[in-house]
Amino acid sequence: MDSILVSGGGELNGQIPIAGAKNACLTLMPATLLSEEPLTLTNAPRLSDIKTMTELLQSLGAEVTSLQDGQVLAMSSHDINNHTADYDIVRKMRASILVLGPMLARDGHAVVSLPGGCAIGARPVDLHLKALEALGAELELKDGYVHAKAPGGLKGGTVDFPLVSVGATENVLMAATLAKGTTVINNAAREPEIVDLADCLRKMGAQIDGDGTSTITVQGVDRLHGATHPVVTDRIELGTYMLAPAICGGEVELLGGRLNLVGAFCEKLDAAGISVEETDRGLKVARRSGRISAVDVVTEPFPGFPTDLQAQMMALLCTADGTSVLEEKIFENRFMHAPELIRMGAQIDVHGGTATVTGVDRLKGAPVMATDLRASVSLILAGLAAEGETVVSRVYHLDRGYEHVVGKLSGVGAKIERIKGQ
Ligand code: UD1
Repeated sequence: MDSILVSGGGELNGQIPIAGAKNACLTLMPATLLSEEPLTLTNAPRLSDIKTMTELLQSLGAEVTSLQDGQVLAMSSHDINNHTADYDIVRKMRASILVLGPMLARDGHAVVSLPGGCAIGARPVDLHLKALEALGAELELKDGYVHAKAPGGLKGGTVDFPLVSVGATENVLMAATLAKGTTVINNAAREPEIVDLADCLRKMGAQIDGDGTSTITVQGVDRLHGATHPVVTDRIELGTYMLAPAICGGEVELLGGRLNLVGAFCEKLDAAGISVEETDRGLKVARRSGRISAVDVVTEPFPGFPTDLQAQMMALLCTADGTSVLEEKIFENRFMHAPELIRMGAQIDVHGGTATVTGVDRLKGAPVMATDLRASVSLILAGLAAEGETVVSRVYHLDRGYEHVVGKLSGVGAKIERIKGQ
């Protein structure tokens, strides 16, 4: 297994290009199943999760061709000859459940393995299933698989989500585009990835209103056609690299970044003493003062502070002046980076969903282990500011969500290299 060696110290200066969003691409790809005509995505990120989704779609009979070094995905679902999403692929990536709604909507039947738990909590799929039932789907759970049928086709209905779920909103939004009649989705997720999906579906001929608000209305159509769509900028990769100059000092411009993708996050950066300026090419980030100030953070659905930036923000706050409280409201077990940061000299107390971080002058390099995608990059950020060398192992987590991390960070002056495993 490969690891990443980071030598801390030194400011970062220059530019980092931000890729298309992993989470948007993972929901745009299954949208190909809604139409017999080709769907082409541009600005796709080069990540192992995208390869997993490619493998899943291909196992169903879709054609997926990766062009221009993976930045363009040309897909066609003309010949879907298998309606079973197998456990062997689904267990690798929870977003695999997103093929359920589109397959069911198009062909009236689908069998999808339940994804199972993952490192950051139980993460059930009950909301996906209840939402599809509201559109007339008949579901049965058997041998770890969801067997879904809609013999006469899906019918528009009202979906009332008891809590905000990004994935469940995406699944039912895709399904509703081909359901007969009108679907109203209440308490819908408002993430930019939902708006991006709705934009793409509209290009394919879907009739959708209200995306980006809590109520989305979909008027079903008989068929969708082909389209070409650029994947929205990855706001989590953006926020992650905004933290690099915040932690190390210097000034870095994040190419392709926009303020409206990271509003709540920027408010916290501002309170900590980090300046963010929108340019015509992206966002320019610099540290205003010597030591940053402590700030409290609560993770919430968009437009709140994203849970996917909580671990990286914690890495910043480890060396803040004062005590910060981070409250994790989305996933119950998302502080696994804390014990690793403590090994680097951080002072962190975790009680349930709350972590209290008391800033220290400097972190110290140490061998640490990545436990999930965002945790792994938080350890790299911490290592960039620490005294001495940090070795982050289990970097396969990182490959799921960050393309060319070594190239992007060394491009702005970081001392970072990938060490090949035995
Ligand atoms: C997506 C993102 C993930 C991000 C998360 C929250 C993708 C591929 N992943 O995950 O990076 O951290 O949004 O912003 O887009 N829940 C249920 N039942 C369900 C579904 C969800 O109880 O059927 C709960 C979850 O356990 C969690 C909360 O709802 O506590 C929000 O999860 P959700 O928004 O669904 O996350 P994902 O779509 O899985």
